[in-house]
Amino acid sequence: MNCAKNAPPPAKLTLNLELQSRNTFGLEVVAERAYEITDSDQVPALMHEITQNQWKWHVLGSGSNVILPPVLSGATLLMNIAGQKLTQTEPDNAYLEVGAGVNWHELVKWTLDNDLPGLENLALIPGTVGAAPIQNIGAYGVEIGQYIDHVRAYDTNTNQFVSITNAECEFAYRDSIFKKNPNRFVVTQVIFKLPKVWQARVHYADLAAIASSNSTANPTPQVIFETVCTVRSKKLPDPKVIGNAGSFFQNPLVSANQYEALLAKFPKLVSYPDVGNQRKLAAGWLIDQCGLKGQRLGEVGVYEQQALVIVNHGKGTAADILDLAKIIQDKVQQQFGVTLEIEPNIL
Ligand code: EPU
Repeated sequence: MNCAKNAPPPAKLTLNLELQSRNTFGLEVVAERAYEITDSDQVPALMHEITQNQWKWHVLGSGSNVILPPVLSGATLLMNIAGQKLTQTEPDNAYLEVGAGVNWHELVKWTLDNDLPGLENLALIPGTVGAAPIQNIGAYGVEIGQYIDHVRAYDTNTNQFVSITNAECEFAYRDSIFKKNPNRFVVTQVIFKLPKVWQARVHYADLAAIASSNSTANPTPQVIFETVCTVRSKKLPDPKVIGNAGSFFQNPLVSANQYEALLAKFPKLVSYPDVGNQRKLAAGWLIDQCGLKGQRLGEVGVYEQQALVIVNHGKGTAADILDLAKIIQDKVQQQFGVTLEIEPNIL
């Protein structure tokens, strides 16, 4: 019997597609050639066409971690591959295969509804499943790299599909092989490995209250999920209400020596221990100390409740955002001698 899958129709092309509702900064953007990818088998032919025409190309999930220019030239791959299924269960782990276009928060809800806890600390992070491994999304003491078994992607260097193991993904703080090689892989599926033995992770300051509260001495995954949603909704602006891309800068790593010197000068410095003797500084605190919280520069500004977030008050552009970012970087450099790296991808 021939079980070969029928070839899908080619990716649907739309010329000059308006993308304002597909980037969380709400920037006015037009994609010259937007291709809707609903099946991984559409990718090889499309990449062939892109190479033949020497077009630039970019993959766009829900645009929650990108700064887009007014015109996206070349080809934009709108990643809409759907589907999530339990593929394998072992005594200790469950394996879940999920399409790159699935909404991240919907996946977290689905895992909890299906008694597959583990991802609850990462609730309400905007974006798609395919984007999650790229910047190794993380919050409240958990990074997604801990739960990824492998990533399925089309490798444009070799023109074939590859399975990239967890070790090969080179996950680090907001970093991965995908982030280091921005024009190499098209992520099509992510395969998660969720341990069957579940443990609450509530050591992060914002969640510690539920661990110490009597009524929730043994918090369930659902309670943690709801707490994370409440904390995030309070601290981070809803992109549907005011455009933003979450944390705009990474929390910078400094050496033990630099940390000691800074602490002597700024005793209230907020920081966390990191690998080796390094220290991770709270970039939000540094920006706040420079008096920038709530400041505006024309149409863009620093969010008034969390200095690490840049917001678009209306008609801001990529250039406006980058101008403000430069002012913030310069002030933090001047005051603390620390360099802030921009977190979202600048296309
Ligand atoms: N702080 C201030 N002023 C501010 C903001 C923060 O003083 O305006 C200080 C506070 O003392 C706070 C500390 O900075 O205790 C850290 O702030 P917060 O707990 O809000 O976390 P963060 O370091 O700003 C990181 C991630 C977030 C993630 C949270 C929770 C990065 C770049 N950001 O933020 O991720 O949700 O921790 O784990 O690592 C994202 O990447 O888009 C994102 C939102």
